[in-house]
Amino acid sequence: MSKTILITGAAKRIGKEIALTFSDMGWNIIIHYNSSKKDAEDLQSILNSANPNSAKIIQANLDIQEDVERLIHASKSFFSRIDVLVNNASAFYPTPIKNASTDDWDKLIGSNLKGPLFLIKGLHEMIASVNGSIINITDTNLTKGVADFSVYTAAKGGLQSITKGLARELAPNINVNAVAPGAMLEPPDVTWSDEKKASVIKNIPLKRMGSEKDIANTVKFLVNAKYITGQTIKVDGGRSLL
Ligand SMILES: NC(=O)c1ccc[n+]([C@@H]2O[C@H](COP(=O)([O-])OP(=O)(O)OC[C@H]3O[C@@H](n4cnc5c(N)ncnc54)[C@H](OP(=O)(O)O)[C@@H]3O)[C@@H](O)[C@H]2O)c1
Repeated sequence: MSKTILITGAAKRIGKEIALTFSDMGWNIIIHYNSSKKDAEDLQSILNSANPNSAKIIQANLDIQEDVERLIHASKSFFSRIDVLVNNASAFYPTPIKNASTDDWDKLIGSNLKGPLFLIKGLHEMIASVNGSIINITDTNLTKGVADFSVYTAAKGGLQSITKGLARELAPNINVNAVAPGAMLEPPDVTWSDEKKASVIKNIPLKRMGSEKDIANTVKFLVNAKYITGQTIKVDGGRSLL
């Protein structure tokens, strides 16, 4: 029976690369998306061509609790098992404190912290039954603080924190870890100038931006690393060392 991975925010970018990586290993893939329906359908076609009937898609806005419950229910019904949950979906935008609103709080906490926590609540028994893994995608920039991003970093910091607590609570049947990317891709719908890229790369010891594959490979590593739990792996080219 093929193993199954549920990846949130999987229609594009890093989530899509994780889906392609696990499809290459013959896994079933549950592709969650919110607004990128066409990208999700295109990815589903690619995965089903490679491994017939291996990919399902499901829409849900993680800010909305009923959507999270529907995502849990559908995910349980697609295949007979769920081995891995990757909490990858994320809203990301600045909230300078003078303008930060409760709406921003709900949006950034919803996709980055509240949605992931309630997904884990709804799916952990199924994941535990196959001694599976939960991987939360956080951010390397949490320790030093990021001006104008206090709500986003609060959400990702919360996700990193529950990674540790749930690693204890769900042991020994589930490994819970986090992957903290550094500068991998430009933010969605943003194109950086050459100067901006150069200024980002200047602060990265390995002298390049990361790629989707760097994250997907780390997720794959953690899924196979059954004696690691409660840890965060920074995939940031050494940026956090400076
Ligand atoms: N890219 C980087 O350099 C970088 C750096 C640090 C950390 N990270 C983290 O790595 C992960 C992947 O990064 P990425 O750049 O590939 O992410 P992304 O493209 O910014 O977002 C991934 C997906 O999240 C989904 N999403 C956003 N709000 C949602 C909501 N309310 N409900 C459900 N889904 C929602 C979107 O799905 P739809 O398109 O379907 O709406 C989006 O495609 C994220 O957790 C991100 O915070 C990335």
